[in-house]
Amino acid sequence: TSNTQPDSAEFRQLMSHLDAMPGIKTRVHTERGDEQTLTELYLIGNTKALEIEDMQNLPCVERVVRVSQEYRILGRHKDDDRPSHFEYNGVRFGQDTFNVFAGLCAVDNREHVEMMLKAVRDNGQVCTRMGAYKPRTSPYAFQGHGKACLPWVFELAGKYGIKVIAMEITHESHLNEISEALHQTGNPTGVMLQIGTRNTQNFELLKIVGRQTEMPVLLKRGFGITLDESLNAAEYLASEGNRNVVFGLRGMKTNMGDPHRNLVDFAHVPVVKRLTRMPVCIDPSHSVGTRAAGPDGILDVMHATAQGVAAGANMVLVDFHPVPTKALVDGPQALLIPELPHFLEDVQIAREAYLKRVA
Ligand code: E4P
Ligand code: PEP
Repeated sequence: TSNTQPDSAEFRQLMSHLDAMPGIKTRVHTERGDEQTLTELYLIGNTKALEIEDMQNLPCVERVVRVSQEYRILGRHKDDDRPSHFEYNGVRFGQDTFNVFAGLCAVDNREHVEMMLKAVRDNGQVCTRMGAYKPRTSPYAFQGHGKACLPWVFELAGKYGIKVIAMEITHESHLNEISEALHQTGNPTGVMLQIGTRNTQNFELLKIVGRQTEMPVLLKRGFGITLDESLNAAEYLASEGNRNVVFGLRGMKTNMGDPHRNLVDFAHVPVVKRLTRMPVCIDPSHSVGTRAAGPDGILDVMHATAQGVAAGANMVLVDFHPVPTKALVDGPQALLIPELPHFLEDVQIAREAYLKRVA
């Protein structure tokens, strides 16, 4: 329904009718736009017995969509024309947009952050990635600078006109740390909260992140679970209220001694776009995991990126570093900052190829 205020008598009548239905639970999601208020009611439970026509005749109901059992909110359902775009801090995300997030896998020092953000700005980009909280296999490995680095990351982001920073959180406390640091810095930069592959099924973290709707979310596909399980993880975010979710493909862990760090799964870009309305991000750095190049001299990371972008990816999350041999995390997969212009040209060629293919 639209433009029916949830506190109106008509809406209350509708809700009392729904609440009286045995075995049915109703979830309400309201989006208040400039021109209208859109209220969506999700009926969960034994809905098969309900007739669409009967539901359509209820007070202030405009449209009834029977959603498939999977991914009720984020899923793509027949005759479903709900918007699948969102805008955050002046940047648009959808299944027909394209954004590059080139940055540091792990923030190591202020100088490197400034070098990276200056290169991002000088190459006409407004998005980046900055790892402050790092999930590590070994407890003895660098865990990230955490909240200590946030003030200067956000201050420098403001200096270089960065609009969105993809930043992983691994604990609910990081949410407040980021919000407070952003507020204290006072510049207009925003954060896209990143849930890493090791936390894809951290359901309590998903619920907490889903309950905040201020910042959008980049959810990485679980590297050891099925795509369906990963898409259901994304649904946790939306079912709690935050549907501004980008789905990230970052390779699958294999035990077959794959030459790359993970088996690149970018062939799933069209699959995710078919099953859901989420924009799809590819991470060629963590999937390929090495700076190796083929006989054509093109880095495997660049080839993997071109594959994913030519398949319709909407976002690229990619690691760069001023001196990869000195990086504190994942140096071997980082591209060199002087390679950024070439990377962007290559990405543009792949993006134009995709647009030509779908024209
Ligand atoms: C992501 O950046 C992770 O923190 C990193 O890839 C983990 O690497 P590790 O398994 O060597 O700790
Ligand atoms: C990252 O992007 O910093 C990261 C940890 O990636 P992933 O969760 O995909 O390993």
